[in-house]
Amino acid sequence: MTTFFHRGRRLRQSPELRVLVRETPPILAEDLIMPYFVVETEERHFRKEISSMPGQFQLGLDELEKQVASAPGLAAALLFGIPAQKDEKASGSCAENGIVQQAVRRLKTRRPDLLIITDVCLCEYMSHGHCGILSDDGTIRNDATLPLIAETALSHARAGADMVAPSDMMDGRISAIRAALDADGFAQTPVLSYAVKYASAFYGPFREAAQSAPACGDRKSYQMDPGNAREALLEARADIAEGADALIVKPAGPYADILCRVRQAVDVPLCAYQVSGEYAMLRAAGLRGWVDEKAVMLESLLCLKRAGADMLITYYAEDIVKQGLAR
Ligand code: PBG
Repeated sequence: MTTFFHRGRRLRQSPELRVLVRETPPILAEDLIMPYFVVETEERHFRKEISSMPGQFQLGLDELEKQVASAPGLAAALLFGIPAQKDEKASGSCAENGIVQQAVRRLKTRRPDLLIITDVCLCEYMSHGHCGILSDDGTIRNDATLPLIAETALSHARAGADMVAPSDMMDGRISAIRAALDADGFAQTPVLSYAVKYASAFYGPFREAAQSAPACGDRKSYQMDPGNAREALLEARADIAEGADALIVKPAGPYADILCRVRQAVDVPLCAYQVSGEYAMLRAAGLRGWVDEKAVMLESLLCLKRAGADMLITYYAEDIVKQGLAR
């Protein structure tokens, strides 16, 4: 007489059974959003590898176009701009001929099928590298920043962006953006809010890539404290109330618990952003042969879907699509 025990292995014994009972489907190409760093420069063929993100580049307009053309299966891109000039008013951020605005127009002409999302933030355009206007005492002027953020989002929509993604973490920005878009005939432009964005050291490589490290202080007065989880729900609900259509949780892997909790609390589509530091770690270990990079990368993204993400921003998006690793 054998005692009863759970035979979990029964449903794991063949690939056919395993696939039949799988809870989370594999990554689809259409789930993926690829970030690009576009540089304002006279140099026609500007292309510079980001040293802390091997395989990722700062690209001039022509090279961006080439890069995108090399990945015909790519469904969506997220654009970050690096302007030629920075100042205390982030003038380049909402300029009609700013670098992101030019890039949007160019890509929408050449690849109308590619969904273009723009990162709406001021840090890349500010001489001090903060995401808002700085007062003399070094604090951020939240409410004074809102019109500038709204104007930036509107300029992206006017250039043809399919969706705008504010990442500045100022309070009230979603309301301000929604009002500006609606008033200018862009009621149909969705807002993908970086609602749940932590003050994370995992953004380190990005700040090299986007040349946006704050010259003084840090971003802890506007980005969230990594120890807080309930606060994520407050931020998520507030942004939905202000009119956000979909939300981003960022970083992704180390914050999968947050993704899962936000998923249970709200019903809008959720996006996980696997950030620069997460990419850098996987890539570095992969380049040394310490992990099977392709396998850990796909697993890391699958886990984000399991945790509740509908879509994924990842620096691996282009590779996955090019290598046919997604359906
Ligand atoms: C801009 C912005 C940042 C990231 C996305 N938008 C940097 C920051 O907040 O310092 C990080 C993305 C990444 O690390 O890949 N505010």
